[in-house]
Amino acid sequence: MTENAHPILIGSDHAGYEMKEFIKQYLSQKNIPFEEAGTAQYDETDDYPLVAFKLAQKISSGEFQRGILLCGTGIGASIAANRVKGVRAALCSTPETARMSRLHNNSNVLVLGGRVTSREMVPQIINAWLEASFEGGRHQRRIEMLDSSGNIATH
Ligand code: RB5
Repeated sequence: MTENAHPILIGSDHAGYEMKEFIKQYLSQKNIPFEEAGTAQYDETDDYPLVAFKLAQKISSGEFQRGILLCGTGIGASIAANRVKGVRAALCSTPETARMSRLHNNSNVLVLGGRVTSREMVPQIINAWLEASFEGGRHQRRIEMLDSSGNIATH
């Protein structure tokens, strides 16, 4: 199965809920498979760390290869997701940063801000992210450093 044939896991808190629903429609139109990690209904008491950890753990375990995660700004969700080992969550606001997050960082979670990311740009950001592939090489060494906590000499 190619990378893009795997379902994308998508999740948000309440502040990302509307954009999450918009993205689900977009993915459906494009026949891009996805699964829902929540929140399934708008609920103002949602806490972004919970959905971020839930989604990130399913990426970390290998159950899903890629996720799209949202909160209001994308900041809290990315902070939370990046605490889970093996997760490289990239908060991207343009197609170019989304593309570079794949090429150089092998990002496995795309993070968007439901209240701040331009809705018009969201399809382009997602396309750029899905179409780009990790370049490996020197970037492989660097992403390995991310998971080797405490073992890297500082200059
Ligand atoms: C929720 O009000 C908001 O704080 C949250 O969605 C997110 O933007 C946090 O970083």
